[in-house]
Amino acid sequence: MPKRIHPRKATAVRRLKKEDTLSVVDRRTSKEYSLRLHLGSLHAPDLRQIRTSESDFGLLSYDPSFVNTASCKSGISYIDGAAGILRYRGYPIEELAGTRNYLEVAYLLIYGRLPGKNQLAEWLHNITYHTMLHENIKKFMDGFHHDAHPMGMLVSTLAALSTFYPEAKSILDTEQRQRQIHRLIAKMPTLAAFAFRHSVGMAYIYPSNDLGYAENLLTMMHRPSWTTQYTPDPVLSKVLDLLFVLHADHEQNCSTQAMRTVGSAHADPYTCAAAAAAALYGPLHGGANEQVIQMLREVGSKENIPKLLRQVKSGKRLLMGFGHRIYKNRDPRAEIIKKVAPELFAVTGRNPLLDVALELEKVAESDDYFIKRHLYPNVDFYSGIIYQSMGFPVDMFPVLFAIPRMSGWLAQWQEMLLDPEQKIVRPRQLYVGARLRHLPKEASAQ
Ligand code: ACO
Repeated sequence: MPKRIHPRKATAVRRLKKEDTLSVVDRRTSKEYSLRLHLGSLHAPDLRQIRTSESDFGLLSYDPSFVNTASCKSGISYIDGAAGILRYRGYPIEELAGTRNYLEVAYLLIYGRLPGKNQLAEWLHNITYHTMLHENIKKFMDGFHHDAHPMGMLVSTLAALSTFYPEAKSILDTEQRQRQIHRLIAKMPTLAAFAFRHSVGMAYIYPSNDLGYAENLLTMMHRPSWTTQYTPDPVLSKVLDLLFVLHADHEQNCSTQAMRTVGSAHADPYTCAAAAAAALYGPLHGGANEQVIQMLREVGSKENIPKLLRQVKSGKRLLMGFGHRIYKNRDPRAEIIKKVAPELFAVTGRNPLLDVALELEKVAESDDYFIKRHLYPNVDFYSGIIYQSMGFPVDMFPVLFAIPRMSGWLAQWQEMLLDPEQKIVRPRQLYVGARLRHLPKEASAQ
């Protein structure tokens, strides 16, 4: 841990280079402080030295929803929101998408480098080897109501997996950690497919070791129960794998933060992943692609777009799939999806919702409301249309997001565990409630 700098320790202050410090004058006490800057940011605990008296707790920073607070150092994803840049471990997303498959990208995220030939073979073997679920998981699935949302089933069964692998609690044991990483990445498509099959009342299809990752998912979801002869269209497998690459990681988003926060209490990775998936389920996060389709269906045709925009601009509703906390120019993932759409539609037929979506984007692009607020389509705006064209039911969309995001969650979880600066997450609060109250005498006597 870097040392704390106290204003009275003039020597320590002098050792800091001027350009790496921020001078702050506290007008309450007229004291001046030199606060160090590291990687262009202020170390928030240093604010605690700014006090009005010995008994003063010291200055806190207040940042609801962490809009301007870095909670960690990370070397996994890099985003430049103003320029619309996304890189995994330094590689631009545009270079990875279409040239590397999802499992190679998952390896890159977790281990920091692309796998060599032997590493890839071992990695694929490890993932393939762990795709099966314990038979009891089927009983869990069977316990859900027929119309249970598959994301609810995914969240619950992910948490349940921790009871099957009690050794996963040894999170600081490298070998154990790697085994759970393999299991979680491997089992996601199987859990997802089982949840889907349960919701449509079809028999579960077991994973097959000789299929690719996306191909396996498509087969487990769509293969009719009465035959073993089923090959998903290779274009569908390819496009789905590409979508998996695009969704694999996205630095400190809400679900990743959930993974890190629960992980910081040293919970096992299945429990952490269930928390992350629960966060992703929310309509403002991974649940948005589901909402986009509902919105586009409701609009139905281009003529109804002005009515929708009037509702959005009057604050009655959000334009789902638009806006992003970080991207304020373009979401590069949305651009890649738009480019691959024609190849998919050549196989599936053009999705009529795409025309409504493109028109909506065009109209919004030239509307002051959206320009001023930097609201552009995010990844969810187009991914839902692609999933729908592939024949996935709408409530499977967030599940399809969670499958590849597992590798990002695990990479971030491992990075957090190995970071000596990280401790159990415990933010402060500004207490604004009653200072002190007493129960009425009669009540306190009971
Ligand atoms: N439709 C209409 N107005 C919007 C939208 C939207 N989709 N998004 C933001 N705004 C407006 C806000 O009302 C606000 O307006 P104001 O300044 O007049 O009050 C302004 O734009 C700034 O918005 P914030 O809420 O401050 O933006 P924030 O960064 O907090 O929210 C978020 C980002 C949650 C993604 C938001 O844009 C949103 O709700 N979008 C719709 C849901 C969505 O698509 N989520 C998927 C995100 S991508 C992902 O998770 C994979």
